[in-house]
Amino acid sequence: MTNKDFETFIDTNDEWIQTRTGIKQRRIIDHKLGESTMSLALEAARKAIALAQISPEDIELIIVGTVTPDHIMPCTANMLQKELGAKKAFGFDLQAACSGFLYGMSIADHFIRLGSVKHALVIGAESLSTLINWKDRGTCVLFGDGAGAVIMRQTQDQNHSILGTHLYADGVHCNLLSIPHGYAKMPTYRAEYRHDKHTIHMEGKEIFKLAVRAMVDSSIELLNEHHIAAEQVDFFILHQANSRIIEMCMKALNIPPEKTWLNVDKYGNTSAATLPVCLDEAYRSGAIKKGNLVLMATFGGGVTWASALFRL
Ligand code: ACO
Repeated sequence: MTNKDFETFIDTNDEWIQTRTGIKQRRIIDHKLGESTMSLALEAARKAIALAQISPEDIELIIVGTVTPDHIMPCTANMLQKELGAKKAFGFDLQAACSGFLYGMSIADHFIRLGSVKHALVIGAESLSTLINWKDRGTCVLFGDGAGAVIMRQTQDQNHSILGTHLYADGVHCNLLSIPHGYAKMPTYRAEYRHDKHTIHMEGKEIFKLAVRAMVDSSIELLNEHHIAAEQVDFFILHQANSRIIEMCMKALNIPPEKTWLNVDKYGNTSAATLPVCLDEAYRSGAIKKGNLVLMATFGGGVTWASALFRL
């Protein structure tokens, strides 16, 4: 779906969207084709398993970061377990908005370090198009659907390992990005339920400021903890919400353009999926190579934010 497509039903234009967000187009699932968060996650999982050259039966843990699961129950992870034939895996969906993938990676890392899991499948998958208020021009142009996946495995090799992850949350700002109706507090059968509140509500300006500060500060904290200068990092992957947010983070962290990946123009903000999709594209294109030191940072609703430093 291109920016021009929006011009036909809301008061917006391609120039405004591109200047304020960097977004040119986004992907939207087609229910008629059987697409959903699950189908996107399944495709991403299969590609990750093939790339890692493992069998689905090697997987012992499946974590799906998503705020748009196909169902509240069963969880996406369990449906994936069945479809993949990952018979030995347990799993769960994780709801930390745009931070879902890094929260998942951090949890999987801890299970692996404890020795209870050898292979984990971590996915970020979203169909945010199902939660958009298509009449709200301030939000509907921002989001898209997508999924990305990684396999994490136990290793003693320091050249391919996670150096550290940091997870953060601040519930004080929980109302800045929310879906007020449609769940236990305001179920669909109550008289007060409003369908337009069963969509994404956002204080864009506030979120913008918090996102920049959080991603920059959490990146610096992680680097300082590991006594690594930003210049020593081979590649940075930042949450793809808005190219202006990314540019401000790059400026603050002194990241040259060739050391980062930008695809918000193609996909919009796919929440938990942006980081693994960037990682996959950057790796398959050769921009990131095995052994490279990579820093990831994200920010999302809740509010939540996170950073991770690893050698691929
Ligand atoms: N087309 C045309 N005009 C628009 C549109 C649109 N799609 N949306 C808003 N406007 C108008 C507003 O109505 C306003 O008009 P007014 O001055 O007459 O009242 C004007 O543009 C300016 O609106 P602002 O909201 O002040 O625009 P801003 O520069 O803050 O950009 C945006 C808005 C793009 C939402 C920005 O705040 C943003 O990107 N915030 C981050 C939000 C985000 O990415 N959230 C995702 C989840 S969290 C995360 O992933 C980081």
